[in-house]
Amino acid sequence: MSPTILAIESSCDETAAAVVHCGEVVSNVVATQAVHSSYGGVVPELASRAHQQHVVPVVDQALQQAKVTLNMLNAVAFTRGPGLLGALLVGTSFAKSMALALGIPLIAVHHMHAHALANFIEPPVPSSFPFLCLNVSGGHTQLILAKDYLDMQVLGQTQDDAIGEAFDKVGKCMGLPYPAGPLIDRYAQQGDPHRFTFPNTRMPRLDFSFSGIKTAFLYLLRKHIAQDASFVSKYRNDLCASIQSALVNMVLEKLKLAAEQTGIHTITLAGGVAANSGLRQQLRRLAKAEGWEVFIPALEFCTDNAAMVAMAAHYQYLAKDFCSLDTMPKPRWPINPT
Ligand code: KG4
Ligand code: ZN
Repeated sequence: MSPTILAIESSCDETAAAVVHCGEVVSNVVATQAVHSSYGGVVPELASRAHQQHVVPVVDQALQQAKVTLNMLNAVAFTRGPGLLGALLVGTSFAKSMALALGIPLIAVHHMHAHALANFIEPPVPSSFPFLCLNVSGGHTQLILAKDYLDMQVLGQTQDDAIGEAFDKVGKCMGLPYPAGPLIDRYAQQGDPHRFTFPNTRMPRLDFSFSGIKTAFLYLLRKHIAQDASFVSKYRNDLCASIQSALVNMVLEKLKLAAEQTGIHTITLAGGVAANSGLRQQLRRLAKAEGWEVFIPALEFCTDNAAMVAMAAHYQYLAKDFCSLDTMPKPRWPINPT
């Protein structure tokens, strides 16, 4: 079987399309929605409207880049969830109408499952299963045990905010636009990570919690701003470096525990926060010290994209995991069972 599949991603604020041929991603197009930047977060209604505007040109460009015409497609895939309902509906409806018009199968992909498969888009790729995946995004923070391409189990996850949400919210407190994560990353590179300290909320087992550290950050700002109104602008780089370092340490601590508990030493990183340079560096350092084999996707495959959805769709196609035309989006959807 050598399927050619079009994949569409519209779960949050990126409208994306990609084509995968025989398991190789041959095009990848992403339209980012700038409309949310001044609101401090994604505005669901604005996201849905922007997806509607972007979906046709983005799909068109992905097909053109891949030099694929509609009659060459063997299936259409879409992100079914988790995500924003209105946003998911755009990709879901578009994929359904294409599948119906072309008479080809439809594939419903889980967004976090797709993130975890981003490590298979380009070499080097994990050569065997099982492996552990630290899957860190704006909506999720999970430690995943990947037993196979289509068999993933969540070993631990956040009980409140996601790590990306923590980056974005502390950034908002400092007056940074949404998404603040990439800006914090940039300022952190010139700051002192030891200048401020924050409490590490220690959760049982392999779970995470980020709401405490976020509140501690807010209280620290309030206390200092009361004495010096220019505190944030004076210490911005140190604040960013310190909070980034604390957040990175929290996730790596749990990753180390998961590796000890499972005895698995093949480790992958995925999700939007996997683009963080501090996390990438610290993970490589830890992997060296622990003797782990580590895989980190290229930046473009960390944040939301359709190449990862296409990758998941490829393996679902091989497993004949198709869905019917009455499949509805699932804003909340545990990764397993699919
Ligand atoms: O995976 P993603 O694109 O969308 C979701 O599925 O949520 O992740 C988006 C999240 C945002 O919270 C954004 O601030 C964060 O990833 N992010 C970063 C960086 N790049 C994106 N956080 C820290 N450092 C970065 N370089
Ligand atoms: Zn995502």
